[in-house]
Amino acid sequence: MTWNDQAAKLREMMKDFSSKAKIITLTSGKGGVGKTVTATNLGLCLAATGKRVVLVDADLGLANADVMLGINRPYNLFHVLSGQVNLSDIIVEHPAGLQIIPGGSGLGKLANLTEFERHRLLDILSDLQSTSDIVIFDTSAGINRNVMAFVDLADLVMVVTTPEPAAITDAYAMIKTAIQQQVQGRLCVLMNRVTSRYEARACQQRLSQVTKKFLDATLFDAGYILEDAHVSQAIRARKPFVLEYPKCQASYCMMSLAAKLGKNVQLPEQKVSFLRKVANLFW
Ligand SMILES: Nc1ncnc2c1ncn2[C@@H]1O[C@H](COP(=O)(O)OP(=O)(O)OP(=O)(O)O)[C@@H](O)[C@H]1O
Ligand SMILES: [Mg+2]
Repeated sequence: MTWNDQAAKLREMMKDFSSKAKIITLTSGKGGVGKTVTATNLGLCLAATGKRVVLVDADLGLANADVMLGINRPYNLFHVLSGQVNLSDIIVEHPAGLQIIPGGSGLGKLANLTEFERHRLLDILSDLQSTSDIVIFDTSAGINRNVMAFVDLADLVMVVTTPEPAAITDAYAMIKTAIQQQVQGRLCVLMNRVTSRYEARACQQRLSQVTKKFLDATLFDAGYILEDAHVSQAIRARKPFVLEYPKCQASYCMMSLAAKLGKNVQLPEQKVSFLRKVANLFW
């Protein structure tokens, strides 16, 4: 092998090593548990730490992350898949730094992709890995092929649930499917809409004990978001609650979640941000 060959090989290896974004997929068994509100606000918090964060609305068919962020765009993933525009044409940058890829709403076609179309979509989206630090996929509820494809890609699979028994049962079904599919990413649970951290801890413990006992797998505790009326107030105003009500309880929970996650994603140059300062209050 010549010097040139060796140098080229090293460059290729370093490209893989240093420039691949971490992928976080948010998913759930039951619908309406807070995936989209978490994905949008978490994305903004992570972007506030100086990381390049892209949120992909992967709820194919019933996308609404753009609605929650007050964004209106004529093009979405459907138009990329049908070849009308390129991925770069549909990326929207929120003024707070988060990049958003809108999904298609009301498009049965996107919800029912063929195997070939799904591979093409994943191939198109894989470009994001070299241009960002973190890619967040917000999926639809339930277990189907589209969702499991995004779960499969993830470094971190975040199963969102509330303490409601039906939501916990469905979260367990999702966890079971992910384990049976031998997903490579770390499986963690985010308890949303809890009334206290004691309630969150009790639910986390029950879920992780059952997972250990029946599936012989370890679940990680991503943390919790408190039930907070500011969340729905902000949604009604089409604004993210971490920006609209940065001092509400849910915002503190979200910032602490982002700080925890952000620690695992290295930046070329660490920036001290408001988030890190807030995070210091928690640790
Ligand atoms: N921490 C919270 N406190 C109060 N209300 C909340 C909280 N989290 C979510 N909600 C409420 O739950 C609703 C559903 O949230 P969201 O749309 O994010 O769920 P989802 O899991 O994405 O739903 P779907 O499965 O339909 O995609 C929100 O409109 C909001 O009113
Ligand atoms: Mg949603």
